[in-house]
Amino acid sequence: MTDQSSNQMWGGRFAAGPDAIMEAINASIGFDKRMAAQDIAGSRAHAAMLAATGVITDNDAEAIREGLLTVLSEIEGGTFQFSTALEDIHMNVEARLKEIIGEPAGRLHTGRSRNDQVATDFKLWVRDQLDAAESGLLALIRALLSQAEAGADWVMPGFTHLQTAQPVTWGHHMMAYVEMFGRDLSRVRDARVRMNESPLGSAALAGTSFPIDREMTASALGFDRPTANSLDAVSDRDFALEFLSVASICAMHLSRFAEELVIWSSAQFRFVTLSDRFSTGSSIMPQKKNPDAAELIRAKVGRIFGANTALMMVMKGLPLAYSKDMQEDKEQVFDAADNWMLALAAMEGMVKDMSANREALAAAAGSGFSTATDLADWLVRVLKVPFRDAHHVTGTLVAMAESRGCDLPDLSLEDMQGVHDGITEDVFSVLGVENSVNSRMSYGGTAPAQVRAQVARWKEMLEG
Ligand code: ARG
Repeated sequence: MTDQSSNQMWGGRFAAGPDAIMEAINASIGFDKRMAAQDIAGSRAHAAMLAATGVITDNDAEAIREGLLTVLSEIEGGTFQFSTALEDIHMNVEARLKEIIGEPAGRLHTGRSRNDQVATDFKLWVRDQLDAAESGLLALIRALLSQAEAGADWVMPGFTHLQTAQPVTWGHHMMAYVEMFGRDLSRVRDARVRMNESPLGSAALAGTSFPIDREMTASALGFDRPTANSLDAVSDRDFALEFLSVASICAMHLSRFAEELVIWSSAQFRFVTLSDRFSTGSSIMPQKKNPDAAELIRAKVGRIFGANTALMMVMKGLPLAYSKDMQEDKEQVFDAADNWMLALAAMEGMVKDMSANREALAAAAGSGFSTATDLADWLVRVLKVPFRDAHHVTGTLVAMAESRGCDLPDLSLEDMQGVHDGITEDVFSVLGVENSVNSRMSYGGTAPAQVRAQVARWKEMLEG
């Protein structure tokens, strides 16, 4: 006789139930209930396959199928009683199935283990998140493309070291982020392709002696094929790590952009106005409009990259195959996924709503000797001065303008000729910011025509 009171699932071997602390450290139901839908989908596929291969009867499979649907509706309806004593989502679902359909429930676990079950559930969950990230990235890219198209020829300062460097266009700056989020999108898609193999049927670690059909469960769950090594399949969390590293890189991009928005929306810059919908006020300073969403997006990279590091540390010392350490994978991924999706949506909202302050951008574009490189290039192109010498001449003229408190175009031709006697009136044509950006026609350069070409290329790619 087995003592069912000691443990509902393995009472045969155990005489006593677990200590309360053991139960607390062991249970994952508090968080893995988020995989309920995936767990039930996996069980349905498994039961249908067991019937198709003659391992269980059609009647049992049908009872299991109906019962699982009832369990799912209880979970979705919020009436399901989750139990910590039952450890995790897998055993909670199976125990409830037994209450509903009785004996056939006990046949569901034939030819599988919680090890391949959890790997399957978790992969399905992560795959859904990759799909959500893809949608979020596409929406953000579209919002950036609208900004770029509207301001393809708006001039603004381009920076290096956050010091004025050369004039660029607003559209060009927006398109820089399109490229970054475009690479994130491609990483998301790559990761999905690589992860899309079904662990189900790997059983505890060695496979099973039952004549299961792994192709059948793989295709029922939308996987491209079954995994090819059962030891690897139950102990692989690369897919979760890849998800977290893709998320980390994307969060880093989001954070860089958020940082720019924080700077740009300040009273000192006034490059952009964020909408009221994506700003907050101050409880004490009535004039304030704070870019809180941008600041929070900037901060999210910490927890997302932290999750990546945490799971890497969990995995690095584990011998094959499954170890319980791996249960620590889920909370990290859940938290990172929630915050990544939120950050993507908040950034999309901010970009859609924000308005660039064209006048402030233009005024800043012309200050800080931003066309000094154009002057040097003119000396090289027209007077055939070696670039290093042209750099020196230009530096002398910048110093002269700086000491007079004026900009380069405000110097007279005589001033310029005092430094290099070959300079002619023609030089003034390159000192204006519009001319400067229009001249940057190299592929991928800041000229409005180049920006418009890139916007068109992206639009075509997104439609195709
Ligand atoms: N809750 C467990 C996890 O998340 C499920 C797998 C348990 N397997 C085992 N052999 N104890 O990893």
